[in-house]
Amino acid sequence: MLRKVAATRYIAALREGGSLPGLIEADDRGTYVLKFTGAGQGRKTLVAEVVCGELARRLGLRVPRLVTVDLDPVLGLGEPDEQVQDLLKSSGGTNLGMDFLTRAIGFDPLAFEVSPEEAGRIVWFDALINNVDRSWRNPNLLMWHGEPWLIDHGATMIWHHHWPGARTSAAKPYDASDHALARFGPDVATAAAALAPLITEELLAEVTAEIPDVWLADEPGFDTPDALRRAYAEPLLARAAGIHERIEGIK
Ligand SMILES: Nc1ncnc2c1ncn2[C@@H]1O[C@H](COP(=O)(O)OP(=O)(O)O)[C@@H](O)[C@H]1O
Ligand SMILES: [Mg+2]
Repeated sequence: MLRKVAATRYIAALREGGSLPGLIEADDRGTYVLKFTGAGQGRKTLVAEVVCGELARRLGLRVPRLVTVDLDPVLGLGEPDEQVQDLLKSSGGTNLGMDFLTRAIGFDPLAFEVSPEEAGRIVWFDALINNVDRSWRNPNLLMWHGEPWLIDHGATMIWHHHWPGARTSAAKPYDASDHALARFGPDVATAAAALAPLITEELLAEVTAEIPDVWLADEPGFDTPDALRRAYAEPLLARAAGIHERIEGIK
């Protein structure tokens, strides 16, 4: 289970991306980036963050620690910005928090160097989860203590928006031509040899067990949260074996 904290103070909005995550302080004195359950893209974004973030971590990639954040909507009452106030008011209950990496800077493909091995692991992982949000325009990689950290896995696993077509969708190739690390000669074959064998039913069960039940309830076609957890595991398991041969746009 992800550790649980409660929000005690709303600090600021992070306006860089599209979804207006918030910076908050919690009752453990930690500072977290908060992804709101009431945000436009809804709770599926949060599920994707948990599944992909926790999977990446288990593959040895760097991801800030994830927690669930209990939010009392009264925190929004004093907030002058109407958009932020609406978000806080509509996000009572369980939200997603991510350790705030103090003084991290956005990855710039022209300013930093990444080895073909590391680029290969990240591109292979993005192909596995079908991440469309790690382009050179919007890398969603932070440099912290001299190393790249992965953030923002909300726009992944497109198949979870239409479960009946999930199998067909998950069989599709991955276009890496715009990937932030495409220019570093990503060695996806070596990455696949090392990482694909780690993607097992057991590992995916462990990862999907981290998704809070409340984000899985009432999904049409699924009777229980666990049935939906298995649906999340299936396309990832299916893609792991051969996705490296279906990555397009890199040499
Ligand atoms: N864990 C973190 N530590 C430090 N800064 C972060 C962290 N997560 C996000 N940010 C900053 O906030 C911005 C927006 O967050 P992101 O997760 O990319 O959301 P979105 O793009 O959906 O708005 C990032 O581009 C980054 O500058
Ligand atoms: Mg982003």
